Amino acid sequence: MPTTFEWETYDRWCKELGSDIIHLEVAGTSIVVMNSAEVAEELLDQHSAIHSDRPRLVMVNELMGWNFSFGLMAYGARNGNYFNRNSIPKPRNAFNLSRTPKIMYITSDTWQPQLSLELPTELMSKKTMTPTSTLLNSIPALKYIPEWFPGAGFKRKAREWARYSTIMRELPYAAAKKQILQGTARPSFTSYSLEKLAEGEEDVAEQEQRVQSTAATMYTGATDSTVSVLSTFILAMLANPEALKRAQEEIDSVVQSGEFPRFSDQERLPYVTAIVKETMRWKNVTPLGIPHASTSEDLYRGYRIPAGSIMVPNIWAILHDENTYPEPHTFKPERFIGEDGKINPAVKDPDTALFGFGRRICPGRFMAFSSIWIAVASMLAVFDISKPVDEDGNVIEPTFEYIPSMACVPAPFECALKPRSAQAEEMIRSMASEHS
Ligand code: HEM
Repeated sequence: MPTTFEWETYDRWCKELGSDIIHLEVAGTSIVVMNSAEVAEELLDQHSAIHSDRPRLVMVNELMGWNFSFGLMAYGARNGNYFNRNSIPKPRNAFNLSRTPKIMYITSDTWQPQLSLELPTELMSKKTMTPTSTLLNSIPALKYIPEWFPGAGFKRKAREWARYSTIMRELPYAAAKKQILQGTARPSFTSYSLEKLAEGEEDVAEQEQRVQSTAATMYTGATDSTVSVLSTFILAMLANPEALKRAQEEIDSVVQSGEFPRFSDQERLPYVTAIVKETMRWKNVTPLGIPHASTSEDLYRGYRIPAGSIMVPNIWAILHDENTYPEPHTFKPERFIGEDGKINPAVKDPDTALFGFGRRICPGRFMAFSSIWIAVASMLAVFDISKPVDEDGNVIEPTFEYIPSMACVPAPFECALKPRSAQAEEMIRSMASEHS
């Protein structure tokens, strides 16, 4: 079994075998890889009554304390989480993003630096969450072996990492609650939900626990993914300076000088939107999504899919299918632009695969797109982004390497971000001081 960049190997196997669905058996566990949009949509959307569970993740959920996260819970166990349409402030108004573009945080900014320094979610997900990365998922009884036992190093690691899941759940929540009580909190999911609680919920302690777990679930779902997309955007600008120039010209022709772009400009900034779509397609953050699991047996195209199978959509393969996206490995925002200069509805929107499928589809997808769009548009408006030059005047070329993980991030790279003008510098300074 491949252990890194599995999506590329699965894609190769599917091509070699001439099938867009393959079955692997690993230590008695069935893994079904869905390598095309058609199969993923048919199984995960249309047969969603069967394939909406999550695999048992012993290390993550049972040893590291991540069972708070409804993103990793069994399908039925998610009832009662607070993440629904009514409980999420809409980014367009509640966060004032239309007037003050910024990358938003789920609760307050004050705990953010401390948390991001301490929290190795990426470290955690790299080794523990892929379907094949741990024997524990196949032989759950291994979790009972004592820490001192040779080979049981994973238990020590799990204990160490479990600390982070507690910090992540409790620290920001306590900070947000304190601000709410002091009347200094900015609108957030937590403030929204706690306000509702104050309006007379029963079982306050239990409900609070759910608000806390939901906020932490959103935090883990939102941070790595958004940061990764924005880093990829910068890399993409280094790969394609013409795209940067074209987007800046578009912004300059639409947005008044001295202003940041607003959401209401989106219709008139199709090329910026195309850059966002292409960034998310080109190096998609979650190449294999989050695996689903089947609760009962299924029959599909004459194949028997056993109950308990791990269902893996190869989102990377879907978004790099050359029939849908010619030259799939090249960063080409113009593939989304039609002859009329607008977004071409005939080109399949990467959103249809990017955020997963069926009943487990990413609930943060609209918020993710909006926050990434406004961040990208704002950066394009004020920054020139280019490859840096070393002391001897040589251009430093990025490697375009990625760290393989459930949520992939670019390996560290250097870039030069320069304000486009004195006015742009002033805009950046005033934005920074507003949020410091
Ligand atoms: C570019 C940004 C993002 C990408 C690419 C992304 C992608 C995904 C994918 C592929 C899944 C798995 C869907 C499936 O099982 O089929 C998922 C689930 C999830 N995402 Fe996102 N996501 C992003 C941003 C966010 C944001 C901003 C939030 C929260 C505010 C969020 C919260 C969640 C949650 C809670 C789940 C679990 C849903 C469930 O199991 O029912 N995500 N996301």
